Amino acid sequence: MSLPKRSSFLPLLFFFLLILSLSALFFFYSCSYRSSLHFSNSLSFNPISSPSSPNFILTIKLLTFNRLQSLSRCLLSLSKADYAHDRVNLHIYIDHFSHVENNTNGSANLENSRKILNFVDRFAWNFGEKLVHYRTGNVGLQAQWLEAWWPSSDDEFAFVVEDDLEVSPLYYKFLKNLITNYYYNDSNFSPSIYGASLQRPRFVPGKHGNKLQVDSGTRLFLYQLVGTWGQLLFPKPWKEFRLWYDVHKTKGIKPLLPGMVTTGWYKKLGERIWTPWFIKFVHSRGYFNIYTNFLQERALSISHRDAGVNYGKTVGPDSNLLDESNIDFDLLEAKPLSDLKWYDFCFSEVHPGREVRNFDELGPVLQSVSKRDTVILVSIFWASEPLIRNLLCHFEKHNIRNFILYGPNSDFTLDLARRGHPVIDANSFLDSSGAYKLIGSEKSNAEQIKEILTKMNIIKKCLSSGLSSWLVEANLLSVNGAPYLDSLDPSSDIFVGKNTGLLFIRSSSFTRKIWSDKIINKVTAKAHASASQDLFSRDGRYFVYIIEESLARLGAKIKMMDESSFIMNLGTGNDNHPSLGDGKKMVSWSSLVSFDLIKKQLVELGMWIIDDDDLSCASVICHQL
Ligand SMILES: *[C@@H]1O[C@H](CO)[C@@H](O)[C@H](O)[C@H]1NC(C)=O
Ligand SMILES: *[C@@H]1O[C@H](CO)[C@@H](O)[C@H](O)[C@H]1NC(C)=O
Ligand SMILES: *[C@@H]1O[C@H](CO)[C@@H](O)[C@H](O)[C@H]1NC(C)=O
Repeated sequence: MSLPKRSSFLPLLFFFLLILSLSALFFFYSCSYRSSLHFSNSLSFNPISSPSSPNFILTIKLLTFNRLQSLSRCLLSLSKADYAHDRVNLHIYIDHFSHVENNTNGSANLENSRKILNFVDRFAWNFGEKLVHYRTGNVGLQAQWLEAWWPSSDDEFAFVVEDDLEVSPLYYKFLKNLITNYYYNDSNFSPSIYGASLQRPRFVPGKHGNKLQVDSGTRLFLYQLVGTWGQLLFPKPWKEFRLWYDVHKTKGIKPLLPGMVTTGWYKKLGERIWTPWFIKFVHSRGYFNIYTNFLQERALSISHRDAGVNYGKTVGPDSNLLDESNIDFDLLEAKPLSDLKWYDFCFSEVHPGREVRNFDELGPVLQSVSKRDTVILVSIFWASEPLIRNLLCHFEKHNIRNFILYGPNSDFTLDLARRGHPVIDANSFLDSSGAYKLIGSEKSNAEQIKEILTKMNIIKKCLSSGLSSWLVEANLLSVNGAPYLDSLDPSSDIFVGKNTGLLFIRSSSFTRKIWSDKIINKVTAKAHASASQDLFSRDGRYFVYIIEESLARLGAKIKMMDESSFIMNLGTGNDNHPSLGDGKKMVSWSSLVSFDLIKKQLVELGMWIIDDDDLSCASVICHQL
């Protein structure tokens, strides 16, 4: 074939070039829109699994002020990351210098701002939308963080970076993998998780900011503390936080949480920082953040700690950047959520999800709580939520961990289990034990009988597991952890408090023998026969009364506790200023006394230790492990 003549060759070349540029244009078009319009198509490009929502989108929120060097290093690292052909937006928030009268630095500040704006304008972001928000006045870090985002859907995620950070090229793949596995996978989702921090976990705020120790086998774990050096935020908890912040700000409530080193920061820096607000919110909700432990001080996001708002002078990188050159493990390994460990602000392990629904589930939970061969069984059938939350804060304060709550299934009991408290769902529990048929749901006192049957069956399980039990209602508070820890007269197995409904049952061969189905049926029958709708039958005292009667007939040696010697009764007489008398180890009150009076007296005694707005413990108290 001969070459076409020069005259016909030129148009052909022209045509060929046109086709080439058109196809290049088309190629560019399809690449840049593929991820946003046809997300699932990008799977073929993408070695990591994709979130199950086609609307998934991550937006980087870069907060900057006046440090051009830092900003350029940060932007460069963000643009060098592997985005696996996904659409990723970049929103840059540039705080303004403050307008002070006779500003001698005015022209220098203006020039610096120009440089930053010029740099940002010239900076090409090829992965998604680039948006620049240049403020007109100095708002500081709190508003920079809080105003950076209002999620527009449950599929939108924000990754917040301050400008002195540097991220690993691997950071996005890692975050997307986390979202896929711990947000979009239902079996690994938890409403308690508010995001993930890419910074190396460093300190324990409940222990004076002491250094944190994680065992070397742990790669991912959950920890309550927010990280400010590379924080991924999930949409729902962030919205919830913004609304919570609004309410608290409006009421003039300050984010004070005694026992936390961050509260000291707030007292010093006030509204210049935002973390004390978020920490207080997370504490009140019982939420957690995902953290990494990559060993050798490695992390996917490091802070250069440049001189600025947080540091007077440059401190240097806090960690070593983890990248392809030094990685020696599978970054995208995602263990089931149930295999990960959860830690609170004291870095003590928390065990969420201990909700007992049947007899078999009770065994392992009993083992998990019973360090001292004794379990405290707390009925939450009748008490109000604030009283129960206050009781739990007392347990926390006195480091009492060997307790189990039981009550009817509700959002409240689910919430208690989510926060790590062991809870028995009485409905399912009785269903599974076959005891439900004994209740007689047509009876007006069915709830009371249900509670009694639950108690009897839990005690049975405790005894067969070799555990002694204290039975208490939520209307009994121990002043300093006693007498749950005191040793009792060994000559008796059963101790009864007739005025308060306090009951102790020691595990012995005798109690194990008598606690048969026969006695359970007998006690239930008695409850059927004698209980009415009156308040007495919804009281621990009622249970103690029928138990004592039934057990005495079987020859049990029952010891009456001299309650007046160690328990102070609240709500009696006109005593508006109660004080603890000599030897009083507990306070108690009758369910007939109004909530307001009880609360008032507990406040006077310093035993109302919950935050009235959030019903969360008013302070963080850490214990030695
Ligand atoms: C600013 O300058 C004016 C005029 O020199 C002076 O009167 C004023 O006191 C100065 N203000 C401050 C805050 O220094
Ligand atoms: C002006 O700049 C100097 C040096 O950078 C700094 O110490 C001073 O605080 C600045 N003054 C104002 C009003 O910003
Ligand atoms: C979801 O998580 C479970 C538990 O880790 C796992 O077995 C399952 O394969 C995951 N599903 C998907 C689609 O990845």
